[in-house]
Amino acid sequence: VGRGDLDPSSIVRLEEDAVVLLDQRRLPDDEVELRCGSAAEVADAIRTLAVRGAVAIGIAAAYGYALAAARGDDVEAAYAALAGARPTAVNLRWALEQVRDASDPAAAARALHCAEVACCERMARHAAALFPSSCTVLTHCNAGALAMGGYGSALGAVRAGWERGVVARALVAETRPLLQGARLTAWELERLGIPHSVIIDSAAASLMAAGEIDCVVVGADRIAANGDVANKIGTYGLAVLARHHELPLYVVAPSSTVDPRTPTGEAIPIEERDPAEVSRRFPARNPAFDVTPVHLVTAIVTEHGARAPAEAVA
Ligand code: MRU
Repeated sequence: VGRGDLDPSSIVRLEEDAVVLLDQRRLPDDEVELRCGSAAEVADAIRTLAVRGAVAIGIAAAYGYALAAARGDDVEAAYAALAGARPTAVNLRWALEQVRDASDPAAAARALHCAEVACCERMARHAAALFPSSCTVLTHCNAGALAMGGYGSALGAVRAGWERGVVARALVAETRPLLQGARLTAWELERLGIPHSVIIDSAAASLMAAGEIDCVVVGADRIAANGDVANKIGTYGLAVLARHHELPLYVVAPSSTVDPRTPTGEAIPIEERDPAEVSRRFPARNPAFDVTPVHLVTAIVTEHGARAPAEAVA
């Protein structure tokens, strides 16, 4: 894959006989591709987090649907398998709806991929304007190029802020239990040459109290019609901490993540993953996402601009 910018086609692409993914389960140690020869295999890659992040799973699913159509497979079965692979990110269903209605699903899926990456670059510019100078930004999970199919949402904002000289460094919450922060975000920041430190999730409070964090910036898996935000488990805790320490919390996500059909956060389905991801020895609970109520969100940044949450969803 090389260093620096991650090419969108290296993250996920459609070939004639396969959807090809950079296998995110193997990062940062191994950069290996996974070839999925059917929609069922793409659904499995989404379920097992070979590809992950709200927008990237939508793009992968769109390519999976296009592959099924090209192979002459049962496209309704493909749609159902892909849409059911993970429940929380609305982009999965949204992207599938875009390609299902297209006369050329492959072209539609590729266009959607390009459009989402272009949204990231616009969001990043809007978000970077919010950062104070020389700031230290805390981010959670991975909302980078890997999660978006290119450039990144929250991490794209960090990148744009670094390029403008306002972001001095990033703190990366490791993101238990699957370490999307410690494995994936740190890997992306290292490639981009942006100064960063991984912290354990539970270090955020004391670092905020010590004045070492200036703002929190995260992505989203679904934004309800009232502005409540579902994102990786732990985001809600950071939002409460940010409010207590009078720090802004910025949510950076494309408008495809806003779900007008979900009225409030209470109606967002929260994925519960295998307890073995948390403990192989004892009973465990493993909710993969949480909901941050709209009143704890300082601004939502979409491709249309940075707005107060109520305006961003209007
Ligand atoms: O379980 P994951 O790794 O798919 O969770 C991803 C996140 O929570 C991201 O923060 C979110 O998708 C926003 S970036 C597109």
